Amino acid sequence: MSMSPVDYIKSHIRTVSDWPAPGVQFRDITPLLADPRVFRVLIDQFVHRYFDARPSAIAGLDARGFIIGSVLAYELNIGFVPIRKKGKLPFTTVEETYELEYGNATVEMHTDAVKPGDRVVLIDDLIATGGTMGAGARLLQRLGAEVIEGAAIVDLPELGGSARLKASGLPLFTLVDFE
Ligand code: PRP
Ligand code: ADE
Repeated sequence: MSMSPVDYIKSHIRTVSDWPAPGVQFRDITPLLADPRVFRVLIDQFVHRYFDARPSAIAGLDARGFIIGSVLAYELNIGFVPIRKKGKLPFTTVEETYELEYGNATVEMHTDAVKPGDRVVLIDDLIATGGTMGAGARLLQRLGAEVIEGAAIVDLPELGGSARLKASGLPLFTLVDFE
């Protein structure tokens, strides 16, 4: 029996223990990106999910969200909006700060990246605490865009991020859970 697409994708995510800090199980998507067959299966999952919804743009979160988000935007024949870590974008920006385990982080987006009424899919590789995805969604909403869904390859449900994002009203789509 052949593997389901989701199991095929999951089997190409490598777990690296104790990186970048003791106790962390890092879910590394680079083997998935390196294999053209499974990379295509991955992108096709998102293409099929969003083809009929006809989003106006894909917004991707720095940095791993850029890799899948730009390919998805290309396949859907729509534009790609980068949401970057603070200090990287040259034009006028809006910014959102969110909490990390220790301290905080800020993401930015150009003020002309979306406009009121745009319908945007926001994508990243992984949801842990949900802080990054939540901040990205707030940026898009502050500029008047509708976030039709937040999407990621991996969810870490034990950290509670996806549940918090859903409770805040953000629809979410993830392919693979790691406990
Ligand atoms: C990782 C990951 C998500 C975020 C998830 O990015 O790619 O963007 O963390 O964590 P959260 O749900 O707790 O916010 P990271 O900040 O490590 O940056 P990188 O993509 O540049 O490696
Ligand atoms: N970002 C936050 N937590 C992560 C994890 N466990 N693996 C990969 N990226 C992450």
